[in-house]
Amino acid sequence: MTVQGKTILITGACSGIGAETARLLRMRGARVIGIDRDDPNLSLDGFVKADLSTPAAIDAAVAQLPAQVDALCNIAGVPGTAPAKLVGEVNYLGLRHLTEQVLPRVARGGSIVNVASILGAEWPQRVNEHKALAQAKGFEAGAHWLRDHPVPQATCYQYFKEALIVWSAVQSQEWFLQHGVRMNCVAPGPVFTPILGDFVTMLGAERVQADARRMLRPGFADEIAPVIAWLCGDASRWVSGANIPVDGGLASTYL
Ligand SMILES: NC(=O)c1ccc[n+]([C@@H]2O[C@H](COP(=O)([O-])OP(=O)(O)OC[C@H]3O[C@@H](n4cnc5c(N)ncnc54)[C@H](O)[C@@H]3O)[C@@H](O)[C@H]2O)c1
Repeated sequence: MTVQGKTILITGACSGIGAETARLLRMRGARVIGIDRDDPNLSLDGFVKADLSTPAAIDAAVAQLPAQVDALCNIAGVPGTAPAKLVGEVNYLGLRHLTEQVLPRVARGGSIVNVASILGAEWPQRVNEHKALAQAKGFEAGAHWLRDHPVPQATCYQYFKEALIVWSAVQSQEWFLQHGVRMNCVAPGPVFTPILGDFVTMLGAERVQADARRMLRPGFADEIAPVIAWLCGDASRWVSGANIPVDGGLASTYL
């Protein structure tokens, strides 16, 4: 594992998967800078407090970041119990905007890791829609596209995780060829973090019970973090444009 000495940005570093990823990467010798709307209660090498739902706040946060970084882990996210507009802004439009703003600071050989979800697995059913949204470049153009193509509240979380998987895939090769920067997704199944209860509310008892029978148990954040950390390091230098499930095998049971 070669993250020793790397400077790594982690959004959502104050809780759940982001916090475990920050701890693991620091333990392995990386310099970790967290970005979150909440205050941190863990050790970090730097921290920027920011609400990642608006381009203005994101730009202000980027201005406080180091001139050069080695990796960006986009882990911040809200569940589908939040209003659909906010889910789109944090989980997709803001993530895209932050990544585009940070890209010029990412060194060749660097890595971008986006945390998607098993709930984005049905992206092939809407791939053309997601590609069209990916083509609406920039936060405002994306928001405009979404005003013309409203996303239902009930499935907004799934929709924006699907859109993230498709955008990551279609955008990744251009950045790898032009900048030598890889971009991949990690798709966790259910994980014990503070928002797990929101997913139960969002999906309903029937779906949750059906899934519970297909898996050993929900995952722990420290079972997702090593895969994110691996994608940050040089050992994964030939992996780009992938979406890696980390779900205890749950996704495979839907085949
Ligand atoms: N927990 C699960 O079951 C699960 C499953 C699949 C995917 N995910 C995804 O994993 C990622 C991490 O989630 P988690 O389970 O660790 O949840 P969490 O609530 O523990 O952590 C999310 C973090 O994101 C931050 N955040 C949210 N909105 C923000 C905003 N507007 N600006 C800045 N920071 C913001 C929160 O403050 C928090 O620190 C999310 O993208 C989530 O969608 C979670």
